[in-house]
Amino acid sequence: MCRIEQHPILPIPARITIPFTWQGRPLDALEGETLSSALFAAGVRVFGHHAKDGAAQGIFCANGQCAQCLVIVNGVPVKACMELVRPGVCVEPVEGLPELPRLDASSAGAVKPRPVETVRVPVLIIGGGPAGLSAGIELGKRGIETLIIDDKHRLGGKLVLQTHRFFGSIDAVYAGTRGIDIATRLESEVRTFPQVRVWLQSAALAVYSDKTVGVLVEGRRYALVKPDVLLTAAGAREKNLAFLGNTLPGVYGAGAFQTLVNRDLVKPTGRLFIVGGGNVGLIAGYHALQAGISVIGLVEVLPECSGYKVHRDKLARLGVPIYTSHTVLSANGTDAVESVTITPVDVNFKPIPGTERSFDCDTVLIAVGLDPVNEFHEKAREFGLPAFAAGDAEEIAEASAAIFSGKIRGLEVARALGHDVGEISPEWYRTADILKSRPGATVHEMTPSAETGVFPVIHCNQEIPCDPCAAVCPNDLIELDETDIRLLPSFVAEKDGKGCTGCEKCVAICPGLAITLVDYRKDADFPTVAIPFELLKDTLKPGEVVTVEDTEGGALGRVEVGAVKALKANDRTVIVKVRAPKEYAKRIAGIRIQPPEVAEPLDRYVERMSKDTVICRCERVTAGEIRKLIRGGVRDINEIKAVTRASMGSCGAKTCTPLIHRLFREEGVPESEIVDQPKRPLFMEVPLGVFAGLGHEEEGHGRE
Ligand code: FES
Repeated sequence: MCRIEQHPILPIPARITIPFTWQGRPLDALEGETLSSALFAAGVRVFGHHAKDGAAQGIFCANGQCAQCLVIVNGVPVKACMELVRPGVCVEPVEGLPELPRLDASSAGAVKPRPVETVRVPVLIIGGGPAGLSAGIELGKRGIETLIIDDKHRLGGKLVLQTHRFFGSIDAVYAGTRGIDIATRLESEVRTFPQVRVWLQSAALAVYSDKTVGVLVEGRRYALVKPDVLLTAAGAREKNLAFLGNTLPGVYGAGAFQTLVNRDLVKPTGRLFIVGGGNVGLIAGYHALQAGISVIGLVEVLPECSGYKVHRDKLARLGVPIYTSHTVLSANGTDAVESVTITPVDVNFKPIPGTERSFDCDTVLIAVGLDPVNEFHEKAREFGLPAFAAGDAEEIAEASAAIFSGKIRGLEVARALGHDVGEISPEWYRTADILKSRPGATVHEMTPSAETGVFPVIHCNQEIPCDPCAAVCPNDLIELDETDIRLLPSFVAEKDGKGCTGCEKCVAICPGLAITLVDYRKDADFPTVAIPFELLKDTLKPGEVVTVEDTEGGALGRVEVGAVKALKANDRTVIVKVRAPKEYAKRIAGIRIQPPEVAEPLDRYVERMSKDTVICRCERVTAGEIRKLIRGGVRDINEIKAVTRASMGSCGAKTCTPLIHRLFREEGVPESEIVDQPKRPLFMEVPLGVFAGLGHEEEGHGRE
């Protein structure tokens, strides 16, 4: 079984087991678990084989957006990532095209379609993540009747996957608090407002020209919601990447990985390789290490990681090699990932032949950016339904920015409905801009010159919106420009006659784990360094000799661990004390955990024996097939679709359309010449019977 049995941040709740079968084999799921997680926990990664070429299929998004995880449950095809395990269900792989469930002709006439319910509501919010909940709270405070719909089993969106403390402002967006805990706070608050109703497991399907929104309620009932205002806070979808072997089971998105690990406490991999050095990839790597998973490496095609440097640095310090100016060439294996091959790229991002290296791994995580889920917003505007968007659905940024934009949009929606919300402070809009700003330039880290007393050393050397260190210092010794929290903090030795007492509050709260405390009071030659640590406390034991590192992961020396402090007040951030020579004590920023040999390359280059790179994973259409058409003069994606079936698959073309556009770009075709295919009216696949009022209760009818 591949379950996480201990975690430094997440509690491991006792849950009852739910029996089910996979290919007739009895297995146990845990209560409240999706089928995909239960199968992964049982070591099943291949969920079937594709009808076209027999390629193995497994999870990809684990978010209901694609259909790679399709399985047959009691004879009916369902997405394993969205279906909770029910006792006794018989689950089978999808081998080729699933058969339609049998309809018993004698009883068909007895089926009575139910009328479709229409629900009128002043505000409909699509998405119960950080933006949607924040907006719901503002609307609830004003007594405005609001319906929040979310396709997941609980509220919080991606916050429920985030074990790390958040950046931003303590006052505005709970900075310094872990994402999972922010989700709980927002959910608790929104649930205090009786005017705010929540429909979980309920997906928006479409916005229609009569200004209604079709909703699949709890996966079985169709309803039409007629709002006066629509707020889309549906978040983002992950971008895909074209490379050989990109559809092998074991290649999946960072969101899928975080869902398995942090929501469902499943350990899906032992050796992980990450593609993409933005915040999503960097954080996923950190989450993997917290779950006891080896991270073999991370490739980023740019010369620098685009995510926050503090995220990059803490990964490097823990022992993860980061290969910038590199790209992934292939994921290798027959039915699942066995290794990955990477290569350096030149200034034009072209692979440099002869420099390839392969690494042993069982999972390749794709974290190459996000696209807004904004289809509902665009349709609402097209049809004249008053519409707003918040969070990633409006603009891709950090979750802290989504919380704040949700607050603002909530007020704007209230105003649009005629409520007097007063003037929304220009300061709020400025704060929103600051929270969503990209990381600034990196400055040279200045080490303090003092060698007496006790003081913090701030290893944060890139401008990002963040203020918890300054907010928690009891003596106000960490200064930060309150008008622009992106500017770097600085420590002043004394204020109002008070100096640093060594309380360690700044060390514990820094979301980037980028503050240490150096204490010369007992021994000026061998000061004590307090280092924040968020892996399992037992990873380090007093008396153990460890390698300490500078900010960016450069080894400084070997020192003995003195104490490992896990105070309740520090909210699961452990403080590790080491004594180190004064020559480098102030430069210590972290402790290496992962031994270098874990991440060593294979001694051979693995050449993947494969067909061309798959661009449309639903229909298994390759780059070669599409390029041939483009080179033959095709500019209309509808024509590509007609010839190859690319973009006709069950994900609704959400996965492959950006990749097809990329092929056009690579072939030198300007965007202006490309004719896009029309967007499918429905956001996701729906059993036809649902529209006639037939649901799960009538399995075999509703799902045809
Ligand atoms: S990848 Fe789903 S339609 Fe192409």
